[in-house]
Amino acid sequence: MTSKYVSKGFWNKKRVVVTGGAGFLGTKVVERLIESGASEVFVPRSINYNLVNREDAIRLLKDAKPNIVIHLAAKVGGIWANKLHPAEYFYENLMMGVQLFHSCWQEKIEKFVSVGTVCSYPKFATTPFSEDALWDGYPEETNAPYGLAKKMLLVQSQTYRDQYGFNSINLLPANLYGPGDNFDDTSSHVIPALIKKCVKANNENLTDVEVWGTGSASREFLFVDDAAKGIVAGAEFYNCSEPVNLGSGEEVTIKSLASKIAKSTRYGGNFVWDSSKPDGQPRRKLDTSRALKKFGFQSETKLSDGLKETAEWYSDSILQDTNFSNRK
Ligand SMILES: NC(=O)c1ccc[n+]([C@@H]2O[C@H](COP(=O)([O-])OP(=O)(O)OC[C@H]3O[C@@H](n4cnc5c(N)ncnc54)[C@H](OP(=O)(O)O)[C@@H]3O)[C@@H](O)[C@H]2O)c1
Repeated sequence: MTSKYVSKGFWNKKRVVVTGGAGFLGTKVVERLIESGASEVFVPRSINYNLVNREDAIRLLKDAKPNIVIHLAAKVGGIWANKLHPAEYFYENLMMGVQLFHSCWQEKIEKFVSVGTVCSYPKFATTPFSEDALWDGYPEETNAPYGLAKKMLLVQSQTYRDQYGFNSINLLPANLYGPGDNFDDTSSHVIPALIKKCVKANNENLTDVEVWGTGSASREFLFVDDAAKGIVAGAEFYNCSEPVNLGSGEEVTIKSLASKIAKSTRYGGNFVWDSSKPDGQPRRKLDTSRALKKFGFQSETKLSDGLKETAEWYSDSILQDTNFSNRK
């Protein structure tokens, strides 16, 4: 963070609700808030507060009485999960976001922080994606239901500010990765999926790893700890409904990503590209200048370092699981 945006006690008197605070990104946001001195951080679990239901959203706000709500709860997954469940991705994300936002306005919460997604950008947006290009076209088809549902919170932020003066912001992180990511075969994103396959190939002496798509698409990845810093800084310093990208500025093709993952997992075999599977959006690279200008955010973790840390975390976690099963 640049010195102008060093926190000076802002969080000390703040009660914060972090929806999705037990998830991959949420865990890091909660850690960052506690480090920053937040007086209370409340993490509602979906089993107690199903935020798709409006009554649960209202009950949450009455129970927790927050000053600030950081909304991270979402149905999240990779290309295949989005392709298989488009209606659920649309309905649950839209209903959770719109109703919680409306309830926060009704309950006079000081500020709502909405975390959107790079999947809201048009399929063929000019790179680097500037926030001003968000409405220039339809998103890539496989993630459009998810991306558009989340994008409605941007409209809500702007209209509720104009009509009611309600303070909310909308941050758009790049694809995230890091320790604690989702490694489930049915819903993981590309980095955990590839790390898992390479580690498995090493353990089972396999010489081929299959990868979906042609490898020509590009992506930008943001380390999860960096994303958490950006969100907490935005929540403190930014008070405007213009959306803000949170990225690393580092564009990488999936082919080059696979090589980096091979290096970080010490996998020496081949990658076999399955071009019958979708590539998703052709290119993704964000213009990250607004986040730097408005609240001093710049990512700190290089992709190669973040991949190494994630691969080590994953290998340690499967080792612990194996030791635990052997003891049972
Ligand atoms: N992962 C990425 O690459 C990425 C990139 C850009 C933006 N984002 C955004 O970042 C946010 C967090 O993503 P993540 O990857 O950390 O996801 P995650 O690990 O799947 O966490 C999402 C959390 O949402 C909660 N949730 C889901 N449905 C809910 C419901 N009906 N009611 C209440 N809570 C519910 C879950 O809480 P329980 O555990 O209690 O069930 C879960 O812990 C999302 O808004 C996502 O759109 C993620």
